[in-house]
Amino acid sequence: MNDVNLNPETQTDVSKLEVLISRQQLQERIRELGQTISADYKNKELDLVGVLKGGFIFLADLVRELEIPCRIHFLQASSYQDRKTSSGVVRLSHDLQLSGKHVMVVEDIYDTGLTLQRVFEDLQSQSPASLEICTLLSKKIEGKVPLDVKYTGFEIENRFVIGYGLDYAERYREIPDIVCMD
Ligand code: IMP
Ligand code: MG
Repeated sequence: MNDVNLNPETQTDVSKLEVLISRQQLQERIRELGQTISADYKNKELDLVGVLKGGFIFLADLVRELEIPCRIHFLQASSYQDRKTSSGVVRLSHDLQLSGKHVMVVEDIYDTGLTLQRVFEDLQSQSPASLEICTLLSKKIEGKVPLDVKYTGFEIENRFVIGYGLDYAERYREIPDIVCMD
């Protein structure tokens, strides 16, 4: 685990942390993703599955850039608890029924890929008409679980980031930019 320079027990002033991706950059890239996805799914209806909690802001912004009809769902995935490295155990919770639908998983970050792999396999077992992954961030790290991720917002170095939905110990999700914690 990396050194923690923010105290998980108290809300710390984050204004001095490095901004990795600004709110303007996020807005522009999400607009592009929305246009690409709308073109790819022209004349189709899309069932989006947001992965809670980290994907909630990305999904909310992405759907407002879509020009196709869609339905919005969520599932809960948790693996990290209050730590900065994955525990490797991914728990899922949902009551989705997506047989025959065009489904897109919307996730905050593809780190090791354990979470997305678990979600993908779980939803694939429901026999959707199609199943794709859209992730806002993807970390450049060795030994990721290989996944066919069709839509990626930004590739980032192996830093621990917070903001725009991403947390550390359930805090800092509300920060409008993506900032580095280490
Ligand atoms: P993976 O299973 O290792 O790919 O991790 C995916 C999950 O870990 C994401 O959905 C995030 O909730 C969390 N995560 C991974 N990296 C970060 C990070 O840099 N900041 C905050 N959360 C992260
Ligand atoms: Mg998290």
